[in-house]
Amino acid sequence: MNEIKTRLDALRNNGNLRTIRTDLSGKGLIDLSSNDYLGLAQMPSMVKRFLQNNSGHTTSMTSSASRLLAINQHSYINLEQFLGNLYGRSALLFNSGYHANSGIIPALCTKQTLILCDKLVHASIIDGIILSRAKFVRYRHNDIDQLYNLVKSHREHYSDILIITESIFSMDGDICDLPKLVEIKKECPEVRLYVDEAHGFGVFGSRGLGLCEYYNIINDIDIIIGTLGKAGASIGAFAITNAETKEYLINSARSFIFSTMLPPINCEWSQFMVRQIIDMAKEREHLKNISKQLNDFILSAGYASHSQSQIIPLIVGNAHTAVNISTRLLNMGYIALPIRTPTVPAGTERIRFSLNAGISSTVIMELINALKTLL
Ligand SMILES: Cc1ncc(COP(=O)(O)O)c(C=O)c1O
Repeated sequence: MNEIKTRLDALRNNGNLRTIRTDLSGKGLIDLSSNDYLGLAQMPSMVKRFLQNNSGHTTSMTSSASRLLAINQHSYINLEQFLGNLYGRSALLFNSGYHANSGIIPALCTKQTLILCDKLVHASIIDGIILSRAKFVRYRHNDIDQLYNLVKSHREHYSDILIITESIFSMDGDICDLPKLVEIKKECPEVRLYVDEAHGFGVFGSRGLGLCEYYNIINDIDIIIGTLGKAGASIGAFAITNAETKEYLINSARSFIFSTMLPPINCEWSQFMVRQIIDMAKEREHLKNISKQLNDFILSAGYASHSQSQIIPLIVGNAHTAVNISTRLLNMGYIALPIRTPTVPAGTERIRFSLNAGISSTVIMELINALKTLL
């Protein structure tokens, strides 16, 4: 017990103690922290329309079993077919992005696999890698030259090299040069590509299918992960891959096999949301514009940012300052949460602005004016 107290005290003293917030909803605050990138979760009319449209489908609130044992499969099969048709490949549902990454990566690896992953990938990917027990090397963030050299120097010894990256990085909002990864794969047949589109799905591409759609490389990526709890305004995740790999994952991804499946009604809702997302090109354009507006200000104020998306970091460099600015922003009516270690490397503590299409350009202007009084 003393050890627990010591660890908690250390977190507290370093400004890194996390606490669960009190409820901030319904207070008229402007939420600059959620992952509801298209603003779909803030539209009560959607729920009304869904319930009207959904009357002929299931209202089942539980699957009561894992996917392999569930009696009611209709909503899952339907959503997978719908997603599969959109991407032109096979889709397999998972309970969350965390389940997808922590289940698929170990399933894909053998002793002959070398994993090369970006230094800044999400914790769920790291956990998947650790569970896989494969040898892995992390390359410098977005350093594709280093990645290429690692592939060249290791390909003699490994028959299988799995490159893992995010398309849009969750804490910096910068993007991966995916076409270059595809070039590496084309040159080196040992390479398979795994791209987590958690923050790209809904936001990039003409139908919002992600950065892989934007670059027109959906068929070149072996596994694409999309999550439904962010721009999808729902919960769950999906893997896009070929039919054979889908069949293999059904038989080997432990998070798929050994966990109760999402409620059917939730997958009906997810499909309803994805149908909205396809047609939200105007919202995507608006999101791009307000993101540029805020990022331009952050750069002009002298802070480094490589954001090319709706995620914009204000890197202040220590936990206490990040918490302080976040608290003062909250007092001014904005929810913008501090991000500390271990989520980001020490010395890069930040406020993470996570914009959504429901925010007007005037609100961004007001936010910029508020920031000017704080920085
Ligand atoms: C890149 C990335 N992958 C996966 C996840 C996990 O997704 P989920 O919240 O659906 O578990 C996150 C969550 O923030 C993420 O940022």
